[in-house]
Amino acid sequence: MKVIIRDNHSEGSLWAAHYIAAKIKEKAAITDKPFVIGLCTGSTPIETYAELIRMVKAGELSFKNVISFNMDEYVGLPQSHPESYWSFMHKYLFDHIDEPAENIHILNGNAPDLEKECADYEAAIAATDGIDLFLGGVGEDGHLAFNEPFSSFSSRTRIVTLTEDTLIVNSRFFDNDMNKVPKQALSVGVATVMSAKEVVVLGFGPKKAKAIQAAIEGPMSHYVTLSAMQNHPAGTIVLDEASAGELKVNSYKYFKALEKVESK
Ligand code: GLP
Repeated sequence: MKVIIRDNHSEGSLWAAHYIAAKIKEKAAITDKPFVIGLCTGSTPIETYAELIRMVKAGELSFKNVISFNMDEYVGLPQSHPESYWSFMHKYLFDHIDEPAENIHILNGNAPDLEKECADYEAAIAATDGIDLFLGGVGEDGHLAFNEPFSSFSSRTRIVTLTEDTLIVNSRFFDNDMNKVPKQALSVGVATVMSAKEVVVLGFGPKKAKAIQAAIEGPMSHYVTLSAMQNHPAGTIVLDEASAGELKVNSYKYFKALEKVESK
């Protein structure tokens, strides 16, 4: 696992956007096959998406041959609700880039048969050549997508029940009223994310520092589902100084030094 540490959220976001853009262009240079990307929501990726939008508008990047799969969606929240992940993704990315609408996949938390919706989602991913890069964020409790503590590392897309901690944290988007936060969500599983050829996770700010420390330096544990990254052959976690704040000084120095050497 690689760990990239930038001075602040904005610098980390730029690093991620340029990395993703380079990967899309790299694949386009060698094949007509689409680039398949997994995408996340939350406040964390907004600046990364803004930079990707800027590149598309400047003619430096295109999503015409990109297929995307989002990580998760609340159950029972109308698609048009401003806090649905469908609304979020359109507002912060899809409405501003050239990705064809038919290439966009977001779980439908209002599907009549939620189990079928999840199975169909896995089948749609399997029908591609696999996800080239999954972009993720991390919850304050170390969750990846909505894979709350104790989610199995072999989990696939399914209905999940949110923990009280997550309801409280996400209530900031629902008038600070945890009773307004949907209690369940559909989420890709830990194994769905880990099956991607590459995984890039963004974690910024002091509130993520403890989860980041546990995921990077702690044992692999279903208690911190982000720790599954330790076993991924091509995993990168992008931090800022604040989210790196709980790492051991030696780990911090190691990751910084490694990046210096590898960028030469
Ligand atoms: C939600 C999402 C996660 C996301 C997390 C962090 O729980 N399901 O995928 O990583 O929020 O959100 P934020 O980026 O706002 O801190």
